[in-house]
Amino acid sequence: MSLIIAVDGPAASGKGTIAARLARTYGLPHLDTGLLYRAVGVKLLEAGRSLDDEAAATEAARSLDVAGLSDDPRLTTGEAGEAASRVAGHPGVRAALLDLQQAFAAQAVGAVLDGRDIGTVIAPDAPAKLFVTATPEVRATRRWRQLTARGFDIGFEEMLADIQRRDARDAGRGAAPMVQAEDAVLLDTTDMDIEAAFDAARRIVETAR
Ligand code: C5P
Repeated sequence: MSLIIAVDGPAASGKGTIAARLARTYGLPHLDTGLLYRAVGVKLLEAGRSLDDEAAATEAARSLDVAGLSDDPRLTTGEAGEAASRVAGHPGVRAALLDLQQAFAAQAVGAVLDGRDIGTVIAPDAPAKLFVTATPEVRATRRWRQLTARGFDIGFEEMLADIQRRDARDAGRGAAPMVQAEDAVLLDTTDMDIEAAFDAARRIVETAR
């Protein structure tokens, strides 16, 4: 039987790790949709184009080569996340990436997709929907630890400000804003480690499927 699991939530909420582990547990393909927007943003930056240029961003989205995105270190930086959030506000970019994401979700076995609008726009009929969140302070701490462990030099206050700015932009945009779907289950991971968060996520999926 096919199973589609939609995992949405803000930056550094743990949704990516949870989605990857759910995919392994249920033997499903996994798409981190944030990588698509990150790749579009990085393409524009590298071409010296403005992130506000919707036509250029839409063209970059249409011609996106999705192979190898998850192994591309250029997409993991804070700069790429910020660029992603800027281009993600363009309706043309979102439209250009829609079919690809819906085709991924339509695979015979099902799929796990994580992002901001999976439960609301990409796969509104998904039987299992999670909205994973945590306080901005806890999310900033997690992301700061990840990045400094990889050798990036960034201060905690800057990290927190980045996350709050990105939350506000993602939730406030007109096109597919980040919002919990009405039928999504809220998973607040503020006081959970990744094991506890994953166990809770699996229980939600078991109840929903
Ligand atoms: O999840 P991640 O931090 O990689 O996402 C980067 C940015 O891409 C988000 O801040 C958001 O603006 C955008 N995004 C989106 N819709 C998705 C996934 C990501 O708008 N489904």
